[in-house]
Amino acid sequence: MPNHIQASKYEAINFNEKLSLFHDQWQPRIIAALNNYHFKLVKIEGDFIWHEHAESDEAFIVLSGNLRIDFEDGHVDIRAGEMFVVPKGVPHKPVTETEVEILLIEPQGIPNTGDLETGERTATNDIWI
Ligand code: NI
Repeated sequence: MPNHIQASKYEAINFNEKLSLFHDQWQPRIIAALNNYHFKLVKIEGDFIWHEHAESDEAFIVLSGNLRIDFEDGHVDIRAGEMFVVPKGVPHKPVTETEVEILLIEPQGIPNTGDLETGERTATNDIWI
């Protein structure tokens, strides 16, 4: 059990409440674990970098805003209330015009920049809220 933990073990996790706890962009926060997977909230705006995750699919659940994910052969628009799973090994680049709030589901320890060791855009991966 992570040690950040809620007041009661039977307290629901509220997305809006968790989203109100941080304002920086491109820095995912972990809100729950499922077996060896993490649920992470992140706020993004603008263009991310092209990357891929060789070992894992990546689920994007859009909570607010409009997210576009570019692929080499097309793109997908994901609006609030919609989701999309990027298959492992597929190069992708998230793009937004305004801030988008997203719930990510991916295995623990997966870098946001995938297999690239870019440094600058690679987020700290283990911050619980
Ligand atoms: Ni990705």
